[in-house]
Amino acid sequence: MCGPLPARPSLGHIPPGAGRGTRLRTFTCTAARAVAMGETKMSLSPLAAELNARLDGECPAALRLLSARGRAAYFPHKGILGQSAEARGKRINATIGVALEEDGRPLVLDCVAEQVELAPGEQVLYAPSFGKPALRQRWGSMIRAKNPGLADGGHSVPVVTCALTHGLSIAGELFLDPGDRLILPDLYWGNYRLIFQAAFGAVLDPFPTFVDGRFNVAGLAAKLMDGTPGKRVILLNFPNNPTGYSPTEGEAIEIVRAIGKAAAAGHDIVVLIDDAYFGLVFEAGIHETSLFVPLSTLSPRVLAVKIDGATKEDYVWGFRVGFLTYGMAGATRDTYSALEDKTAGAIRGNISNAPNLAQSLLLAAYDHPDYAAQKAEKHATLRRRYEKVVAVLAAHPEYAESFTPLPFNSGYFMCVRPVSADAEAVRQLLLAEYDTGVIATDGLIRLAFSSTPLAELDDLFANVDAACRRLARS
Ligand SMILES: Cc1ncc(COP(=O)(O)O)c(C=O)c1O
Repeated sequence: MCGPLPARPSLGHIPPGAGRGTRLRTFTCTAARAVAMGETKMSLSPLAAELNARLDGECPAALRLLSARGRAAYFPHKGILGQSAEARGKRINATIGVALEEDGRPLVLDCVAEQVELAPGEQVLYAPSFGKPALRQRWGSMIRAKNPGLADGGHSVPVVTCALTHGLSIAGELFLDPGDRLILPDLYWGNYRLIFQAAFGAVLDPFPTFVDGRFNVAGLAAKLMDGTPGKRVILLNFPNNPTGYSPTEGEAIEIVRAIGKAAAAGHDIVVLIDDAYFGLVFEAGIHETSLFVPLSTLSPRVLAVKIDGATKEDYVWGFRVGFLTYGMAGATRDTYSALEDKTAGAIRGNISNAPNLAQSLLLAAYDHPDYAAQKAEKHATLRRRYEKVVAVLAAHPEYAESFTPLPFNSGYFMCVRPVSADAEAVRQLLLAEYDTGVIATDGLIRLAFSSTPLAELDDLFANVDAACRRLARS
């Protein structure tokens, strides 16, 4: 029977220690009440209750930050996957849902297998829902190498996602209930609307990205402190899409300080750190490492979630390999493994696992002796384009009559704001008469220097200037 509408399920529904045994706890809301609460009727498996109890014991804020779906998530270690793992190496193994030849090799079409120099098992068999163990370890050591100050054991083992969009979506599933505010700068990747708003009912709550040409830390702080102490979810993406901005060293310190202050004031904060363009910083004095480093040790009330991957870092957009990694002051291996289980469980119930072939190819590439040198070469290609953009703007002060560049120093993109023309009209005119394609978004024109040859950059800006001038006149 449905009683009065209760508060959202909170810790109160999951007392510390609950589910350590086999007790099945069930949310007994009727559908109507569930809808009003923005939740679906959902039973809590004993395995989920056990993970929740582990989190509650060591990192209660991590439990408080989970959504209803996040609290219900668990990994079925004793299910088909676990039973298959236990049967590995047995003479007769009738567990796994793949087809094998008479001699036990994967049954594979030659026309598929001959395309790549990897053993068929590394191509066509399932990868674990957590991701290939060797790749998870490798990515963990790679993020430590790229982020000095990040300690081994100071973060979870990365869980492999089907690239960053999927990692963001899994984070949305685990941490956002319908109606939850997602605090983020107002210049953001438009797909966040589909990922967080359309799919999970979160309310995007943006603050102006820049004030006086600087990152608006005060805007972030105001959003964090707005309202009574409770759950806060922030999304930070540097280098940023669409602006190509990363904070200065000073701004990075201020951002971390603002989040620390909000935690000290009693807020529980989960920070989703979208590191899609990690490493593509082209100016001195810009914060190069991930905000995950300071945030992962900031406070027992701050859960840092690093969402990153090979997509842009290793120039493999279609491979669909990303990672989700947690860091929180006070978290132990046990806390992290509970969060990893919830993450892998969400993945298991969603795409089951990320492509084995792409994970295998990346592992092989990371072992390649020329990996670092080749990566540096591609970085240099993008840096040359960035420097060319800076030079073009410096050489053409008259462009200031047509458009204003927004601050940029990193990533794939930069944005300009037309002075008196409509951005969408500029885009249309560029397509129709200048043989030029750009993105119009939120009154801005986004220019991807990442995909524009060096030799075309002069013309790109000249065309944008010409189109802005014509539309300003008309
Ligand atoms: C800021 C940002 N995050 C995430 C993604 C998604 O990356 P992936 O292709 O790995 O899903 C993109 C892709 O454009 C992006 O710009």
